[in-house]
Amino acid sequence: MEAIEAIMTRRSVRKFENRSIPDEVLEKIIRAGTYAPSALALQPWAFVVVQDQKFLSRVSEFCIPILLSHMKGAHDGLSDLFRSLLESKDYSIYYHAPTVIMIIGKTTSRFREIDCSLCAENMMLAAHALGIGSCWIGSTDVAYNNKELMAGFRIPDGYSPVGTIAFGYPAETPHADEKHPPVVTWIR
Ligand SMILES: Cc1cc2nc3c(=O)[nH]c(=O)nc-3n(C[C@H](O)[C@H](O)[C@H](O)COP(=O)(O)O)c2cc1C
Repeated sequence: MEAIEAIMTRRSVRKFENRSIPDEVLEKIIRAGTYAPSALALQPWAFVVVQDQKFLSRVSEFCIPILLSHMKGAHDGLSDLFRSLLESKDYSIYYHAPTVIMIIGKTTSRFREIDCSLCAENMMLAAHALGIGSCWIGSTDVAYNNKELMAGFRIPDGYSPVGTIAFGYPAETPHADEKHPPVVTWIR
């Protein structure tokens, strides 16, 4: 897939087929992540590949009530939609994806969040080009303070989480909405 086409057609996928992604394909996606630019070429990222569905369910079950409590009182259309999703039976914040990858960054690296986010976007685009859907799961953030769950992610010393992304073969084709036109100031 051509680069511009991959960028324009990637959309978050939230329904996955019940089949695993071969390790070679996941390695390719991770390798693509590592070709992202990084400040001073420090490449401060590392990856935790989670395929233990019981563990992912535990994380999800911990996060759901916290996410619901954060939304108390919010009644715009989006919040109502998200609330009904969170309350639905069998909902997982990871959408039952076969693989979830946590991107972790060297805690001391000043630009870790930017560097790791660039890495994450490379991974999502590479996945899309390989026929694999993805969705960044910011909801994991509410578990960052839970020592027991974080221990389950086996984050090496000196690293901390930047984001988690669910990956899997898409079982849906998300509607590819047009994005907002860019607000651009030209100075010349
Ligand atoms: C930092 C970040 C956190 C996100 N967290 C979630 C999440 O917890 N659950 C979810 O379903 N989507 C999540 N998303 C996906 C966004 O909802 C999605 O990117 C946005 O609606 C735009 O749609 P698109 O990715 O299809 O272009 C997150 C995206 C980003 C960048």
